[in-house]
Amino acid sequence: MQDSEISEELVFALQRPDGDKALRPVHTIGISATGFFEPSPIAKNFCIAKHFDTEKTDVIVRFSNGSGCAVVHDGWSDVRGMAVRFHLPDGTDTDLISMTLPEFFAPTPETFLEFAEMAAPKPYKGQTPWQKIAGLLKLILPERDPYPGETISPDEGALQFADEHEYAQLSVLQASQIGAPVSYVRAAYHAVHTFIVTAPDGTRRWVRFSWQPIAGVLNTDPNATPDDDYLRQELRDRLANETARFSLMMTIGEVGDDFNDSTRSWPPHRKRIMMGTLTVDAIPEDQIADNEKLSFNPGLLTDGIAFSDDPVLHVRLKTYEFSSKLREATPCPFSKR
Ligand code: HEM
Repeated sequence: MQDSEISEELVFALQRPDGDKALRPVHTIGISATGFFEPSPIAKNFCIAKHFDTEKTDVIVRFSNGSGCAVVHDGWSDVRGMAVRFHLPDGTDTDLISMTLPEFFAPTPETFLEFAEMAAPKPYKGQTPWQKIAGLLKLILPERDPYPGETISPDEGALQFADEHEYAQLSVLQASQIGAPVSYVRAAYHAVHTFIVTAPDGTRRWVRFSWQPIAGVLNTDPNATPDDDYLRQELRDRLANETARFSLMMTIGEVGDDFNDSTRSWPPHRKRIMMGTLTVDAIPEDQIADNEKLSFNPGLLTDGIAFSDDPVLHVRLKTYEFSSKLREATPCPFSKR
């Protein structure tokens, strides 16, 4: 199947019955913030991209809940997103899109389509106490109880997919335990795919990027009744008094690591380079133009950063472009290239 055909199928497969077609089909609820990126003194030795050799680069960041549900459920366990657009000194932009899961669900667009279809939300009731006890006797962990007001869930289909496809087990397990952050800026975000960065001497390295919050990672109490709508206000209140900062970490892959399969983790002792610090310090007033209508695209790269051969990364270009057109957002910048 061509990238453009499967991209359209992927967008339709991701749409949820409780979503809104005028909004993003995933990462629907969010807020944008502005700030700047400052490279570390060594970043330019590893990558010639301009934001690693410019004192300060302005950014716009969109934080989001991973779900495609159009009703706010901030306190529910969910993946979160952080999409960063760097406004480069020559007037062009480059995007780095990341989420709180370090690995992805499927190694190819076709297998992700199967995953999305199987994990389409189904009615969710949880288990009765007797069902939980019967499960425990068979050494099966009990299902979680539904949140107040939760009637459908992707969990059952996702678990079934993971049972049948070993490559999905790491990400499905991590997603099931991910929880809810106390703040969008108290979570670590991963760009998941491998990119190729070029150094000034022409050396090319296969790398993975992550944002680490300088204030540390902190989740809400999983046993407390979840608050439905706090993350956006929390960011507004926080930035009225202080800034929030993230370190951009770049992990360098070695021979034998999976460069083209984002379901596979790399060994934890790989060399990591601190590439710079992102500071967010303000919330744009116009959250329609500067949040709802924004279109990020993982294909919006710049000289010095290139794609690996990961087929999921490649299909995302057309997918995001199509999704942005469908919801009548500001034209996806990738389509201008
Ligand atoms: C084939 C795999 C994937 C598909 C089909 C897919 C699909 C989508 C779609 C359709 C959107 C909405 C785009 C728009 O309307 O602007 C989106 C947004 C997003 N995706 Fe993915 N995605 C995939 C993989 C990933 C991966 C691996 C990550 C993690 C790095 C990721 C993180 C995000 C984030 C953070 C957003 C929100 C961007 C924003 O704030 O505008 N996605 N995705």
